[in-house]
Amino acid sequence: MTLPGGGSLGGTVRVPGDKSISHRALLFGAIAEGETRIEGLLPAEDPLSTAACLRAMGVTVSEIRAGEPVTVQGVGLDGFAEPGDVLDCGNSGTTMRLMLGLLAGRVGRHFVLTGDGSLRGRPMRRVGAPLAQMGAVIHGRKEGNFAPLAVQGQALVGTTIRTPVASAQVKSAILLAALTANGPTTVIEPVQSRDHSERMLRAFGADLVVGGEGNTTVTLTPGNTLRGQQVIVPGDISSAAFWLVAGAITPGAALTVENVGLNPSRTGILEVLEQMGAPITIVNQRDVAGEPVGDLKVSHGPLKAFEIGAAIMPRLVDEIPVLAVAACCAEGVSRITGAEELRVKETDRLAVMARQLGAMGARIDEFDDGMTITGSTPLHGATVDSETDHRVAMSLAVASLVASGSTTLHRPEAAAVSYPEFWQDLARLRG
Ligand code: S3P
Repeated sequence: MTLPGGGSLGGTVRVPGDKSISHRALLFGAIAEGETRIEGLLPAEDPLSTAACLRAMGVTVSEIRAGEPVTVQGVGLDGFAEPGDVLDCGNSGTTMRLMLGLLAGRVGRHFVLTGDGSLRGRPMRRVGAPLAQMGAVIHGRKEGNFAPLAVQGQALVGTTIRTPVASAQVKSAILLAALTANGPTTVIEPVQSRDHSERMLRAFGADLVVGGEGNTTVTLTPGNTLRGQQVIVPGDISSAAFWLVAGAITPGAALTVENVGLNPSRTGILEVLEQMGAPITIVNQRDVAGEPVGDLKVSHGPLKAFEIGAAIMPRLVDEIPVLAVAACCAEGVSRITGAEELRVKETDRLAVMARQLGAMGARIDEFDDGMTITGSTPLHGATVDSETDHRVAMSLAVASLVASGSTTLHRPEAAAVSYPEFWQDLARLRG
């Protein structure tokens, strides 16, 4: 794909549904009693992987089409049929990790989970180890750390688990397993990760208490019946992030991004952009089905470098690639630390962004848990590659807007994992 440099951006964009909330609406709907109706579900490859896995276990999920509500006929907590084949999670870490938690307690049933080359290289012991503490039996390559993974459903015991990484995927897997344990389970995180599971499980009727300093402790007591719900999925702030940065760095730009989920466990990107001096305003703030939502207005302005570390990382972990692009356009040296989790995302995002943005002239020094980016550095068009990572593809497209000359992007189709209409929206906003 050729991306011309220069020009500006203007207009209004409505980003697709939140990926994290979309997965959860499908999964929780599947284990509830009765029907769940989902509006605004993200019609992208990752949620399609979740839906396909659920269908393979006998759950009726209506066809997922953009702009149409999706219904899930719940089979109840213990209703999954043993699938006749391997469950394919595609590129989706959330599908695989949450599913491990959900399947661990399905007594007497056998499940095998796999995924694409990227997912088969991502660590799964972070989920397998705490689940094993609850009595789960999960086998996989390299001592259980990598898919394909086999789950032999077991009766689980409620316990207290301290997770070493702040990961909503790990926390959610434990909470899903806890639903069928023999007593309460408590998860204690080092820093609070996104809390969509807690909010939605409670809305479905689960007995769940959040506490501890900084909401780092969640206790789920099994026994309640989950009931099918109406879920309205807000737009994904992680998709909005591409437009927020594009608007902030592109001369003359003025954009409105509508219907963006503003859950405080996700809004780190707004704080960093504010720290940079980006003119962003939130309008029309409202509450939609238990999640805060608003419209964001952004325009171009002079930007300052930023510094971020481990404390904020869970609240903007998916936005680091596009923040690296913003840093190239900011005055001064930006510093990202405490970001070692980026090395085990869909790609090693520290290495990939340093390599790909480097090809466009960016000055990036990569280290174990982060990078420094020296701005304001003029970027130039180059031949770059998403390396199959959706967020890298879209971040490089944002970088191309301020590059001199045109950029050739290989494997742009990766964007479809979370934002299938990204390229159409980009073309429209560029006029
Ligand atoms: C997600 C949590 C994050 C995030 C991922 C989606 C989720 O991962 O990077 O895109 O839906 O729970 P971790 O929780 O592993 O950090």
